[in-house]
Amino acid sequence: MDLFNLRLYDFRNFSEIDVQFKKGINIFYGDNAQGKTNILEAIYFLVFLKSVRAFREQELIRHDRPLAFIKGMFNSRAGPVNRQVTVYRDRKKDVREGESLKTKWSDIATNLGAVYFSPDDLNLIKGEPSGRRKFIDNLIYQIRPGFYKYLRGYQRVLSQRNSLLKTLKNNGHIINTLDSWDEQLSEYGAQLINERLKVLYTISDLTLDYFKNFSREGTDLKIKYISSVDCSDPESLKKNFKKVLREHRDKDILRSYTSVGPHRDDLQFLIDGKNVKFYASQGQQRTIVLCLKFSQRDILHTVKSENPILLLDDVMSELDIHRRRLILEREDHQVFITTTDLKFIPDEIMNRSSLYSVKSGVLR
Ligand SMILES: Nc1ncnc2c1ncn2[C@@H]1O[C@H](COP(=O)(O)OP(=O)(O)OP(=O)(O)O)[C@@H](O)[C@H]1O
Ligand SMILES: [Mg+2]
Repeated sequence: MDLFNLRLYDFRNFSEIDVQFKKGINIFYGDNAQGKTNILEAIYFLVFLKSVRAFREQELIRHDRPLAFIKGMFNSRAGPVNRQVTVYRDRKKDVREGESLKTKWSDIATNLGAVYFSPDDLNLIKGEPSGRRKFIDNLIYQIRPGFYKYLRGYQRVLSQRNSLLKTLKNNGHIINTLDSWDEQLSEYGAQLINERLKVLYTISDLTLDYFKNFSREGTDLKIKYISSVDCSDPESLKKNFKKVLREHRDKDILRSYTSVGPHRDDLQFLIDGKNVKFYASQGQQRTIVLCLKFSQRDILHTVKSENPILLLDDVMSELDIHRRRLILEREDHQVFITTTDLKFIPDEIMNRSSLYSVKSGVLR
C-alpha cells in the first residue's frame, strides 16, 4: 500500500500543500519546528482517523482558522482509496471516501495501515507497564478486531468486581457474590492473556531477527510476559487466574482493588538475560523499539496482505552510522522519515530516496 498524493489545508502550521509521493523512502528534512512531524501526524490521522499526539482534535486546525482539511490518495491491493477528512472547531469531523460521506466505522475502508515510530516510543522500554500493555493490545486489536470484545468485557467485569470489593469492606456477608465475578473475570482474562502470548510468540522471533541484523552484535534479545498468573500452560490459564484471585482475595478486599490479572501484567525486554530498562544504552533501547515497530509492520503485512506505511519520526539522530545504514537497507516499501539534517542519512539511502525540505509550513 502507498500514499501517492497528500493535500493539507490549514492543518497545524500548513496553510496549503499538495504533494506527490513515490514508493520507497521519502525524507522530510528541515530545522526544528518547521512542520516535519506535523506531516507524519497528518498521514497517521488519515489512516487511523485519530491523532498520534493531539489531545483534542481541534489542535490540528491551524491557529485562528475554522477547519482543517486532509486528503490522501492511496494505492492498495484492493484498489485506490481516496480519503478526505475535515476537522471542525465546533462539530464532529467528516470522513469521506471518494464522494461519499462515511457515517459509520464499519463503512470505512479497513485496508489502510501505518506503523509510527516517535522518539516518545522509548517509553515503551523506560516507561510504565501500561504503555507496554497498550502496545501489545493495540497490535492484537489491529490483527484481530474481535479482540476488542474480550478487552471491553474484561474491563467491564474488572470495574464491577472493584466496586464490589469496596462494598465488601463493610458488608462481609455478601462475599459469595465475588465468586461469580471471579468466574467471569478469569474467563475474559484467560482469553486476553492467551491472545497476548500468541502475538508475543510471533513478535519475539521477528524482533530478535531484526535486532541481530541491526546491531550485528552476537547478543540475544528476549521478550518475556510477566504475569501474576502462571502462564506455562495456555490450557490452564483460567484455572490459574482463578487461583491467584482467590489467594489475593483478602488483600484485594482491604485495598478495594483487584491486584492480580492481565491489567497488571507487563512485558520485559532482556538482552543476554539482562533487563534493558536498567542496563541497555540509549541507542540499544532505540534499536529495540525500532525492531518492535518493524516486526509490527511485518505482522500486519502478513495478516492484511497489505504493507502498512512506515512513519519514522527523527529516528536517525541517536543511532551510529552503522545502524543508520542498516535500518533502511532493505526497505522497498513506503517509508516516511523526518530528520533535522541530511547528514544523518547515509549516502546509499539518500540515493534511493525522495527528498522534501520543510520550512515554516512550506514543503518543497
Ligand atoms: N494548530 C496549529 N496551528 C499553527 N501552528 C501549529 C499548530 N500546531 C502546531 N503548530 C506549529 O507547528 C510547528 C512545527 O511543528 P512540528 O512538530 O511539525 O516541527 P518539526 O519540524 O517536527 O520540529 P522538530 O525537528 O523540533 O521535531 C511548531 O512550531 C508548532 O508551534
Ligand atoms: Mg518533529
